[in-house]
Amino acid sequence: MLSVVNISKNFNGLKVLEDISFEIKKERLGIIGPNGAGKTTLFNIISGFLKPDSGKIILKGDDITGKKPSELAKKGIIRTFQIMKVFENMTIEENLLTITDDLSILKDFELYEKRKELARNLSQGELRRLSLCLAIAKKPKILLLDEPFSGLSKKEAEKMAGIITEISFNGTSLAIVEHRIKELFNVAERVIVLNSGSIIFDGDPESVTENPAVREAYFGRNYVRS
Ligand SMILES: Nc1ncnc2c1ncn2[C@@H]1O[C@H](COP(=O)(O)OP(=O)(O)O)[C@@H](O)[C@H]1O
Ligand SMILES: [Mg+2]
Repeated sequence: MLSVVNISKNFNGLKVLEDISFEIKKERLGIIGPNGAGKTTLFNIISGFLKPDSGKIILKGDDITGKKPSELAKKGIIRTFQIMKVFENMTIEENLLTITDDLSILKDFELYEKRKELARNLSQGELRRLSLCLAIAKKPKILLLDEPFSGLSKKEAEKMAGIITEISFNGTSLAIVEHRIKELFNVAERVIVLNSGSIIFDGDPESVTENPAVREAYFGRNYVRS
């Protein structure tokens, strides 16, 4: 579906991504790693918000490296942000109307009853769902989610997990950056671990917590999976 090929990026001489290569298939891919590992930078490069220093992004055989976010959105690559971007002084409905006339998808996100509510009055969970709903309204082929569980209560996080799984059943490929491991591993079919700009693990969520290098870099040696 999408290939990241030998991507490198530095900021003022600081190497943030070093020769990163992996594929996003038709799957739910989790991406984890310590703060500053380069996860958001990676999303910014794939979605066209940043240009890499070297390397390529290939979508179904086409080189899309360095294309603008708006062009990539038309090709089906959509991202959400760690800090959500919605129009706070508009209602849920008005936010969605900036993208589509079809308001029925609000039901899938449990936002239909609240459609006349201003975005700034929403709970964290509702805001995250609105942000995801706005992304889905653009009909992505590949959806990049930056910390979709951030700030959610346990109950809201469960709701979010259900919605994320539903989205992938509709054929959308998902890459999800997240610190909340338990919630992430409930939805991820495969996981990549980034550390200091390099991939130190790519594989099964079942085995990642037992990997010595990953434990050293991220989970801690004494980590016990709950
Ligand atoms: N626009 C930028 N300018 C300079 N440094 C940046 C910029 N964006 C990120 N960085 C630095 O790059 C590193 C990786 O950041 P980021 O990709 O946000 O990591 P993560 O999302 O994994 O926490 C950090 O050291 C961060 O300070
Ligand atoms: Mg980040």
